[in-house]
Amino acid sequence: MLIIYVIAFVAALAGLLFGYDTGVISGAILFIKDQFNLTSAVVERVVSAVLLGAVIGAAFSGAMADKLGRRRSIVLTAILFASGAIGSAFSPNVPTIIACRFLIGLAIGVASYVAPLYISEISPPDVRGALVSLNQLMITFGIVVSYLVDYMLTMGGEQEWRWMFGLGVIPAIILLIGMIFLPESPRWLVSRGFIDRAREVLKRTNKGKDADKEIENISKTVTEKGCCWKEVFQPWVRPALLVGIALAFFQQATGINTIIYYAPTIFEFAGFGSHKVAILATVGVGVVNVLMTIVAIWLLDKVGRKPLLYIGMAGMALSLVVLGVAFYLPSLSNLLKWIAVGSVLFYIASFAISLGPIFWLIIAEIYPLKIRGRAMSLATVANWGFNMLVAATFLTLTEKLGRPGTFWLFALISVIGIIYCYFCVPETKGHTLEQIEEHLYSGKGLRKLGSS
Ligand code: BGC
Repeated sequence: MLIIYVIAFVAALAGLLFGYDTGVISGAILFIKDQFNLTSAVVERVVSAVLLGAVIGAAFSGAMADKLGRRRSIVLTAILFASGAIGSAFSPNVPTIIACRFLIGLAIGVASYVAPLYISEISPPDVRGALVSLNQLMITFGIVVSYLVDYMLTMGGEQEWRWMFGLGVIPAIILLIGMIFLPESPRWLVSRGFIDRAREVLKRTNKGKDADKEIENISKTVTEKGCCWKEVFQPWVRPALLVGIALAFFQQATGINTIIYYAPTIFEFAGFGSHKVAILATVGVGVVNVLMTIVAIWLLDKVGRKPLLYIGMAGMALSLVVLGVAFYLPSLSNLLKWIAVGSVLFYIASFAISLGPIFWLIIAEIYPLKIRGRAMSLATVANWGFNMLVAATFLTLTEKLGRPGTFWLFALISVIGIIYCYFCVPETKGHTLEQIEEHLYSGKGLRKLGSS
């Protein structure tokens, strides 16, 4: 069994790169702006290059993950991550920085779903929730590491942004070397007819279980159904597609990245005088994110996905309402300042035990094997698309609705999310991917999974 943890850990390094490369820009951009004398419009382009790359990377890689295989797709992203890190570190000018950050974005777009996909397909059902969510743990860890690297390098000279970008090459190379030695997903192998190789992998990863029986079960799901984009939109797959897109919406439209972005402002507003303290407090937000993701990993396969979604989204709604109230009151009393800080921490904790890991987990579980790469790429495009949309409209929203109104809107979306999850999201805990697929195919309604 140990081998399965090693495999999941190595593949989850893709998550570390996702977190590091998205987080690192917040510190690096300050130096780049000064060195090249950038206008706000160019700063925006440097910052959003990664997001744009991620949308495009996720959009155009679905067929690649299905045809080329999961492992080889991750190897490719590791090469992209490494080239992007080196390229951006040595960039002579701003257009090169933008191009390299876009390249890294492409890698993030692919890695963000192929890593959970690979881990999900190689894991036994009783620990699948925990293993897939290692990827989210690495995302949160990568964000904290990027904050710390930025923080430490801020004390150096004006070229330090090169180091901030360049250090990303280390996890990229470890991922590359690690993935070369890891086996391909046994489910993908079966879907492509490489039965002997699949049996070898299953014997190594699923000790004590009957590999032939498992291959038989997997084969049953791949026989009649085809494998192209047309299949993705077949009526029996549609409910699962909707769940993926809806969860992508709820993960982003409840404001996670605006909270992460605004944390220092909120802390300064709450009365932590210096810049330095505000940044350290932001590191605190990152650490709570990591710690609560560990709690989620511990709970996911015990209590299931849906109870955590309910508890987490209720916590998010509550903390957003309180945060809105704190912003609504014209002058914060000492106590209320602490309430504002507390609600940001409570919000992050609630996100980390629910929508953070569970979005990526569910989309790695509910799609049919033959089109899993394509369908996950769709849900992932939706996730990055909503991420961009929220980022692009946040400032206008705060102008039109005010900060309290904006946080209350996020709270309302969280409440709608709870209702949606109750009626439409399946409980996948303990089921094999094949059982989930058969249930979807039967047309009985995803929500009834497990009760039929
Ligand atoms: C989300 C990101 C977010 C991160 C924070 C991920 O699951 O997709 O948008 O920044 O969690 O931990």
